[in-house]
Amino acid sequence: MEKLIITGNQPLGGEISVHGSKNAVLPILAATLIVKGETVLHNVPELSDVTASVEILRHLGARVKREKSTLVIDTTNIINNDIPEEMMREMRSSIIFLGSLVTRCKEALLCPPGGCDIGVRPIDLHLSSLKQLGAQISENGSCIHCRAQRLHGAKIFLSFPSVGATENIMISSVLAKGKTTIINAAREPEISDLAAFLNSCGAKIFGAGESTVEIDGVDELYPNSHTVIPDRIVASTYMCAGALQAKELVVKNVRAAHLVPVIPIFSEMGCRIYLSGSDLKIVSPKRLKRVKSIKTMPYPGFPTDCQSVMMAALSKAKGTSVFNESVFDGRYKHISELRRFGADITVNDRIAVVNGVRELYAANVYSTDLRGGASLVLAALAAVGTSTVGNICHIDRGYEHIEKNLKKIGAVIERKDYEG
Ligand code: UD1
Repeated sequence: MEKLIITGNQPLGGEISVHGSKNAVLPILAATLIVKGETVLHNVPELSDVTASVEILRHLGARVKREKSTLVIDTTNIINNDIPEEMMREMRSSIIFLGSLVTRCKEALLCPPGGCDIGVRPIDLHLSSLKQLGAQISENGSCIHCRAQRLHGAKIFLSFPSVGATENIMISSVLAKGKTTIINAAREPEISDLAAFLNSCGAKIFGAGESTVEIDGVDELYPNSHTVIPDRIVASTYMCAGALQAKELVVKNVRAAHLVPVIPIFSEMGCRIYLSGSDLKIVSPKRLKRVKSIKTMPYPGFPTDCQSVMMAALSKAKGTSVFNESVFDGRYKHISELRRFGADITVNDRIAVVNGVRELYAANVYSTDLRGGASLVLAALAAVGTSTVGNICHIDRGYEHIEKNLKKIGAVIERKDYEG
């Protein structure tokens, strides 16, 4: 196992570059199954979740090659229609393969997905939507068996704008017979990126990024190339690092429009943000100010994925900030670890109250989940002394070479192996 050793309270500055979006590339990888032939994807980050998706594609029969940040995926010959349990358990978004596999093979056999422990993560919306598209689904213990000769269009109302369910419906309906309408669809930028990829392959998806998405089924898709959007959550994490420890930090390769839900929060903290093309400069005050209230919401609300990293930044702000985590019911597991640095945070159900402290002090902590792990790295960067962050396999799911990138902006950080 590996850990990060971080000597904190060092000034950070300079430029840091944001890699391609994990949450955008994962559904696109699943979607390559329904595009027979060779798809070329650019700006694909080297993350363990991407490796897990590639392993699933290879198991199904696809040939996948990586050249730096470009992946070439050849799905001409698909030989399996099942995903082994150990592959499904690697990550939550393995469930996105359900729609693409049943579309491609007319039958799919898989078990419920794994992923970060951030609360109850049901898949009822995925399954009920596929049923509305005509799939026959039976669940037998830990196995989901899904069959359909050809899916058909349907009007699907989502009781919650689930990102994954919206993606599964989009992938399942592009080759379905007739028209599909998704009402109360998720509006995240990753949904629009999936639609952009599928449309470039001949799909007819209208309104992605809005609450109502319409899909006119087509008979065939043809392979194409696509460049994945930058990762807005990684950008926000680096902005938090800048807010905490840099007078000025330039975050490169961002899409400012995707950061609209977080930029006003940084302004409220007293940071100044300057945008120039795909560069974002954050200029931080001597001490950050509290933010009265942050409620996580589906896009364009404040992202739940940024809750923990923003909490780490605000743990050193002047005054009291209040968080309301409305998307996931178990997404405060990092708080007990943040407290080890001396952060003053209390939790009552979905509400977390952060009383900013002047200093954080080094601690030995363990990542509890992907974004929670990133929040611990931020706290360690700001803490006086040398900290260790263990269980970094969680962090590697979503941050490419985090220690190399942070080193470039002045962080004193090392990755080391450890036993047990
Ligand atoms: C995606 C992101 C994740 C992010 C989340 C919310 C990927 C790979 N992951 O996860 O980083 O935190 O969006 O922005 O893109 N729900 C149900 N039934 C379902 C599906 C979801 O009740 O069938 C509930 C969940 O329990 C949760 C809420 O809906 O409370 C949001 O989940 P969803 O939007 O589906 O998140 P994911 O797609 O899993």
